[in-house]
Amino acid sequence: MKNSAFPPLKIAIAGLGTVGASLVNLLQTAHNNGLNKRSHRVIEIVAVCARDKNKDRGILLPSNVVWYDDAVEMASAPNINVFVELMGGAEGVAKVAVETAIKGGKHVVTANKALLSAYGNALAQLAQDHTVSLNFEASVAGGIPIVKTLREALCGNTPKRVIGILNGTCNYMLTRMEASGESFETCLKAAQELGYAEADPTFDVDGFDTAHKLSLLTSLAFGTQIDNKIETIHGIRSITAEDIIATRELGFRIKLLGIAEKIGDNISQRVQPTLLPHHAAIADVGGVTNAVFVESDFMPSLLLVGAGAGGNATASAVVSDIIDLARGLHVLPLGQVVGDMQALVNAKPDAITRRFYVRFAVFDKTGAFATIAKHMAEQNISLESIVQHGKPEGDGTIAQVILVTHKTSAPALEKALDAIFEAKILAAKPQSMPIEPL
Ligand code: NAP
Ligand code: HSE
Repeated sequence: MKNSAFPPLKIAIAGLGTVGASLVNLLQTAHNNGLNKRSHRVIEIVAVCARDKNKDRGILLPSNVVWYDDAVEMASAPNINVFVELMGGAEGVAKVAVETAIKGGKHVVTANKALLSAYGNALAQLAQDHTVSLNFEASVAGGIPIVKTLREALCGNTPKRVIGILNGTCNYMLTRMEASGESFETCLKAAQELGYAEADPTFDVDGFDTAHKLSLLTSLAFGTQIDNKIETIHGIRSITAEDIIATRELGFRIKLLGIAEKIGDNISQRVQPTLLPHHAAIADVGGVTNAVFVESDFMPSLLLVGAGAGGNATASAVVSDIIDLARGLHVLPLGQVVGDMQALVNAKPDAITRRFYVRFAVFDKTGAFATIAKHMAEQNISLESIVQHGKPEGDGTIAQVILVTHKTSAPALEKALDAIFEAKILAAKPQSMPIEPL
């Protein structure tokens, strides 16, 4: 079907992996289902690029699609309107190809949060200078339209806090570990097989992918430049079966959260496993599903929930960006003129207070509880509860002691935990996680 009012929108797709192959499938399916009517014009794939031309990708490309071995060469092809970057990586080919496309007057659509977290300010400026769009809905929370929600739907609000379950791999793993007791490695392998994980899955499990996404949401929510120098980035490797059981008994669930919060004139960005009360809707979000909770002044609470990773969900977001271009909708990449955006000023960590969950593996001998209480008191940390969890392990000499503090700051807790560890009453470094109020 052709729409005679407008010429076709010609797109080139760099990367035919999990997301790129799903994008081709989605466009072909949607074409049959009337996509051209919704986009006001035909969306035509004219060129593609990947590393291996002979790989079976489970897709059938029209015979007139041009194959490129070099993404940068494809980005400078004169016959394309939109360069869709789905290769990944903050450096190298993805960056050069995106810059080349923008400089050549092409619109860019990308799912590459690593690239945008590192170079988003400069790329947004470049796009602005060349009057082209740089759309990145798919880069945060897969199929959830959170970029457009913050940049467009909520732009009349002043956000106070953004809380996100932003990594599908970690949420899938935590949910599976909680439900089945399977090991970290088994759950990670399953997430990789399902196409959720990054090419290097340490980005997922060590919190960097969440941090990349958070830095983009922070910029969109608070109107500051993208700042990827996030001090607190902790992944999920240290979470044990004991933590999952103990936190559940206390009425919480562990989630890897990215949180951006306005503290006075400053902003705190942090990524860490965090306890959420069971009754909170976001705590119920399991599996590969992501969720973003936004607290603003005129719109006090908004929760978006949906598939956060995987080819189809991500391709759905990529297509929404392409359709915006087909419809002639152009919004500045970060929602503002880059030159008008302030640099982010980090809130001091001691300005943020939370209750904390702490787990100690304590040598089961007299005075251990007193030592813990003493060092906590020295940092003015009062204890809400302290229990010995289960029976002493193994030969009966190590006990798990679970403690919940009243509100304190992370630096004060860290000092107390260091002193307790120095006192040689522990068999391992203590585990601690903040409890986020909702
Ligand atoms: P992927 O499955 O690893 O696919 C990457 C594709 O890029 C492959 O087709 C690969 O070619 C191609 N490629 C890599 N380096 C290239 C180069 N130098 N030149 C040409 N082609 C190159 O990755 P993906 O999961 O689809 O992710 C793509 C992007 O989307 C990444 O930025 C990722 O962070 C982002 N993202 C992914 C998801 C998800 O759930 N997977 C969700 C949201 C965002 P070959 O196939 O020939 O090796
Ligand atoms: N690896 C990412 C995740 C893909 O698991 O969330 C989606 O960005």
